[in-house]
Formats: sequence, structure tokens, C-alpha cells
Amino acid sequence: MTSPLRLGIIGLGTVGIGVVKIVQRHGAMIAARAGRPVEITAVSARSRQKNRSADISAYGWEDDPVAMARREDVDLVIELMGGEDGPAKASVEAALDAGKDVVTANKALLAHHGQALAERAEAAGRALRFEAAVAGGIPVIKALGEGLAGNEVLRVMGVMNGTCNYILTRMESAGLSYETVFEEARQLGFLEADPELDVGGIDAAHKLSLLAALAFGCRVDFDAIELQGIGAIATHDIRLARDMGYAIKLLGVAQMTGRGLEQRMTPCLVPEHHPLAQLDGGTNMVVIEGDSVGQIVLRGAGAGEGPTASAVMGDVIDIARGMRLPVFGQPATSLVAAPPAAVSTGAQWYLRMVLLDKPGALAKVATLLGETGISIDRMRQYGHDDAQAPVLIVTHKASSDDIRHAMAALPGTGVVVGEPVALRIEEV
Ligand code: HSE
Repeated sequence: MTSPLRLGIIGLGTVGIGVVKIVQRHGAMIAARAGRPVEITAVSARSRQKNRSADISAYGWEDDPVAMARREDVDLVIELMGGEDGPAKASVEAALDAGKDVVTANKALLAHHGQALAERAEAAGRALRFEAAVAGGIPVIKALGEGLAGNEVLRVMGVMNGTCNYILTRMESAGLSYETVFEEARQLGFLEADPELDVGGIDAAHKLSLLAALAFGCRVDFDAIELQGIGAIATHDIRLARDMGYAIKLLGVAQMTGRGLEQRMTPCLVPEHHPLAQLDGGTNMVVIEGDSVGQIVLRGAGAGEGPTASAVMGDVIDIARGMRLPVFGQPATSLVAAPPAAVSTGAQWYLRMVLLDKPGALAKVATLLGETGISIDRMRQYGHDDAQAPVLIVTHKASSDDIRHAMAALPGTGVVVGEPVALRIEEV
């Protein structure tokens, strides 16, 4: 019989335990598909004593993740502890240096060190796979790297943080404020230990940076992503956007333009007929546009025990089968550093502001927009009191630079109350 593939799992949180359960439940099926048994040799986590929903007593134990990465009876290290540096990075490096393959769900690690780790893995002739790092159970890395490998990718878009999508959809369905739903999400255990990773868009941007590298054959460049979280979205923005035929989503977009690589993770309006707008709760969606395939839409659970462990096991089985693909779809040394696009592709914009309700106020705003080169497509004024009037403007296509200038100049008109809001309307 072919020798078994021996796994060492670092991190026994939700995903680690999910992996243990799949291996225990589907041993025979996995062996049949992989052409060899897949066994867990050893595990490592912070506490051995902790109560867990799977029996790990049959496996070896390591307190030190790096020691686990170097164990002689482990062929493949599964890194599920998280964190962009520290023990996660040290154990992945140690595993590759010890000639082991690595599967990780660690988007932060790869967003910051993906190029160096890919070069290290490929120089050692080892696999470094990360399906579980992007959009949980959706096999988007496989789709981009394999199924769509014959396409020039034109654009990749996605809603890739389930917590933000939960917050935005719950604000709309229950008419609750951002603060109230944020607290609900915390109580439900949806938020990362550092909530800014979720609501600040960072977690989703980590994922986008990996998709962009794979889609466009370039080096991961997390720092080039234009980043804005969902904290400034008010419940009435969601309601007003809906009134104009749009939903608000924290949307990641990566596209190669003549001006360079454009990468954005920002709250955007998307037309309500598009599947992206219909995505509820904690679900994720990735939209890929290829020159031959057209637009494809992948939807599924973006987090959780089963879905994320499913993605890990897909990678494990590929490695057990002997697949050794370049980490980012082509040899790491051939990946180019794509110049970031200085100006993003023009778009229509949603502008929401509160005006003093006095003669000429609207004219001042319209004049300012006109002088900045921004043309108004639609406008609505909503129910107002004697002193103030909420106004919503949808612009014709404008550059983000023009919108930024206009937003900065609006307070100078003397008729705008508080902070105006500008959200891009993504053409999907
Ligand atoms: N916190 C993430 C989310 C899951 O809410 O989608 C892990 O990336």
C-alpha cells in the first residue's frame, strides 16, 4: 500500500477541530480519493487540557509549533493558528525548511509575507496551499489557479468578510444602528479578537491581495489596497441606497488597468438585481471576470468549522495526490510587482449630505460639484425639518480624485451640516 500522508496540525480552534473531524469521519473516502491514507500524526495548540468536540488523544502533542513543524513523523503541516508574524510565520518557515508541505488558512501571514514564503516553498520543491485563507469554503483559489487558468482575468470582486455582510444586512432588515448591530455581532462571537480586522476591512483586504496576485500574476501587495471600513455607514444610507435601487456592500475589487493595478476594499453600492446585492448574512461571494469565461459567481460560507475545514482538506488531498502547483499560479520568481493605479476607474457616486434648509443651499452644492467637473445624474431631497434637509445625489461617472476634492470643499460652502458621505457605485 502507498505510504500514508502524515499530518501535523498547528492550532486546534474551530477550523483545526473541523479538520480533525473530517479526517476521522471520512478516512476511507479520503484515502480512496487521494490514492493513499491521510492520517493525523500530531497536533499542537495553546492548551492540551481544553475541552474539545473531537477526540485528539490518539495523536502526538507538541506545545511548541516550531517543534511540530520539524517533527520527522509529519509530512504536511497545517498551520491554523493565525497571526501575520510570530509563531505562525516561524512554524511555516520551519516546516518548509524541513522539507514539508504546508497548508494554511492564514490570510494575514500570506498578505504580508506571501512572496517570500512562496519563493521559499518553491525553492524547496514544497507545496504551500491556502484555499482556506480566502472566502472560507468557497474553492476560489482553485477556480482562479486551475479552472480559469486559460483566461486573462479582467476583474475579481468579492464580499469576503461575513461579519461585515452580517452587520450591513442586519442594519437594513432590522432597521438597527451600526453600533447596535456591531454589539450584537460581538455577542454572537462573529467578530475577530481585534474587531478592526473585520469592520475596518483589513481581513477582507488580506484576502483580496491574495486573489489579485493569483489573478494578475503579480506579487502580493497588501499595502497598495485602498481601504475603508464600514464604520461610517449609517442605517439611512442603506435605506436611501435601496430607495435608489442599490445595496451597500463592503466590496473588494481588483482589476488591471492601463494605469496599473487597482485594488480597493471599500463600501460600495451595487445594483440590487446583481447577486452581490442579494447576499445576506455571513455568506461570502466572489465574482470573477475572465476574457473567455465571462462573469462567474461563487457563493458560500466564508467562515466556520465545516466550510473552512473543507477548504483545508481540499488542499491536503491535492498534496496527497502529488500535486505541486506554484503557490500563486506561476513560479514565484516570475511574479512582477504591479504598479498600483494612481487613480481608480471612473464610477458613478452616491453622495449623501445634510444641507441647511435655506434659499440657494442646493445651488451652492450643485455649483461646487459642477466646478469640480462632477455632473449630477439624480438627486433626491428627503423629509426635513425647518432647519436641515437631507439630500442624496447620484453623480454621473467621476474619478475618485474629483470626488475627494469635492468632498473636501463641501464644508467651505457654509451650507453643509456635518460630514458628507461619498460611496462608489460599482458597475457590475
Ligand atoms: N472574520 C472573517 C469573516 C472570517 O467575518 O468573514 C475569517 O476571515
